[in-house]
Amino acid sequence: MARSFYFCLFFLFISSTSKLTTSYPLSTKSRWIVDEKGQRVKLACVNWPAHLQPTVAEGLSKQPLDSISKKIVSMGFNCVRLTWPLDLVTNDTLALKVTVKQSFESLKLFEDVLGIQTHNPKLLHLPLFNAFQEVVSNLGENGVMVILDNHLTTPGWCCGDNDLDAFFGYPHFDPLVWAKGLRKMATLFRNFTHVIGMSLRNEPRGARDYPDLWFRHMPQGAEAVHAANPKLLVILSGIDFDTNLSFLRDRSVNVSFTDKLVFELHWYSFSDGRDSWRKHNSNDFCVKIIEKVTHNGGFLLGRGFPLILSEFGTDQRGGDMSGNRYMNCLVAWAAENDLDWAVWALTGDYYLRTGPGLRPNKNLLFHPSTGLCVTNNPSDNIPTLRLGPCPKSDPWTFNPSEGILWINKMCVEAPNVVGQKVKLGVGTKCSKLGQISATKMHLSFKTSNGLLLCLDVDERDNSVVANRCKFLTMDASCDPASQWFKVL
Ligand SMILES: *[C@@H]1O[C@H](CO)[C@@H](O)[C@H](O)[C@H]1NC(C)=O
Ligand SMILES: *[C@@H]1O[C@H](CO)[C@@H](O)[C@H](O)[C@H]1NC(C)=O
Ligand SMILES: *[C@@H]1O[C@H](CO)[C@@H](O)[C@H](O)[C@H]1NC(C)=O
Ligand SMILES: *[C@@H]1O[C@H](CO)[C@@H](O)[C@H](O)[C@H]1NC(C)=O
Repeated sequence: MARSFYFCLFFLFISSTSKLTTSYPLSTKSRWIVDEKGQRVKLACVNWPAHLQPTVAEGLSKQPLDSISKKIVSMGFNCVRLTWPLDLVTNDTLALKVTVKQSFESLKLFEDVLGIQTHNPKLLHLPLFNAFQEVVSNLGENGVMVILDNHLTTPGWCCGDNDLDAFFGYPHFDPLVWAKGLRKMATLFRNFTHVIGMSLRNEPRGARDYPDLWFRHMPQGAEAVHAANPKLLVILSGIDFDTNLSFLRDRSVNVSFTDKLVFELHWYSFSDGRDSWRKHNSNDFCVKIIEKVTHNGGFLLGRGFPLILSEFGTDQRGGDMSGNRYMNCLVAWAAENDLDWAVWALTGDYYLRTGPGLRPNKNLLFHPSTGLCVTNNPSDNIPTLRLGPCPKSDPWTFNPSEGILWINKMCVEAPNVVGQKVKLGVGTKCSKLGQISATKMHLSFKTSNGLLLCLDVDERDNSVVANRCKFLTMDASCDPASQWFKVL
């Protein structure tokens, strides 16, 4: 999918390559976003997350900030939707006292501290807000426009139905605190002309996800931003994870200003039901879903409002059939409507991605007979696996259907010889682990000469070794528990 995905982005983008130099500020002219001269500006943005636990824009432990900005430009994007947690402006301790280094250290992300020291030494000792500001500045120096997207309240992964900040009035979403935070953010970036807009809140959602509260509070946030910085585009997200703006069909937003209001819509393959693209004929389903998307948001173009498709995207490794089918339908629709857009996301991975209710992968291998967990053994020359205290965060992932166990970007390479330690390698020779026996707690693999072995523990040093699978069934004479690993 990766290749065709980039092709698609290119295709979406070519219609705007005739653009001349943009003169800020931007405003709206019916459904178009235009610059000061009235020329259309087509936003071709990439989402750059900076709202997760570390509260640092992702990737800065891997590459220098300026290289990332230049890469964004070279890929054809003209804009970044930069996400931020509200706490970044409402909690002065977080924003102004905690440094980048301290933030990573508090999360035990020591490798990232080293990475930042290597690639972005100037950022390492900056307070989190200043580091965020550096990112915004650098994007500006590279001619990249920025949308500041208030993604959630407290740094972390977003979004689930049960989040405490899912909607106005939830325990962690006080509309007054929010509007005050938006005003502050708009004020703090008043001098950055390339900051062209703010999206007020990402993906409102939850059981109380109804339009009345939206109509009461969204305009308050919009007025707060506009009062602090009237140059900004004010971007409003729909309900149901920003898939639904249909309540605007027969009721309009009441704000005191004109020519600045923009809406945003999100559309992923799973917005249409988990895996449902795979289960339907793509012609039939594409037409049906576009009807839905038009009813729920696309209609705004016809009402004279710009609509940014501000999150979409799929697993670009190609294996997600639903995602691939959805993407073709989406790209056709976006091109036909000449939409402004922002793809999710710039990042290949995240410093740390955890959130309540969100565990796409299994990330603990618990060894019940010792109460310990499988960890890697970084002190070894050749990294191996051993038992250790169960980690609180997720240093590794195991996806049972793939059977590949990853730790710190290395994967398990099981040995061919009974009794040998289980090593970690760089990803070229990953073993496929099966979960066998009635309990599925034996983790098995086939050696190159066809032998079925299981992970086991050498009790002399708690290292993880390969042994013949023992007592899988019937035989009651002995206990297989040293080979039991519960995937949690
Ligand atoms: C503010 O941030 C600090 C540092 O992350 C944290 O310890 C504190 O609990 C936060 N305060 C509030 C009120 O959230
Ligand atoms: C913006 O620029 C003006 C004039 O250069 C300066 O007085 C003001 O302090 C700046 N504001 C911020 C928030 O940096
Ligand atoms: C969109 O929101 C409206 C208003 O709350 C609701 O009536 C409608 O069912 C929603 N549409 C979908 C597809 O969920
Ligand atoms: C729109 O908002 C203004 C003040 O912000 C208020 O005076 C007016 O009554 C509102 N109109 C509607 C139709 O709600």
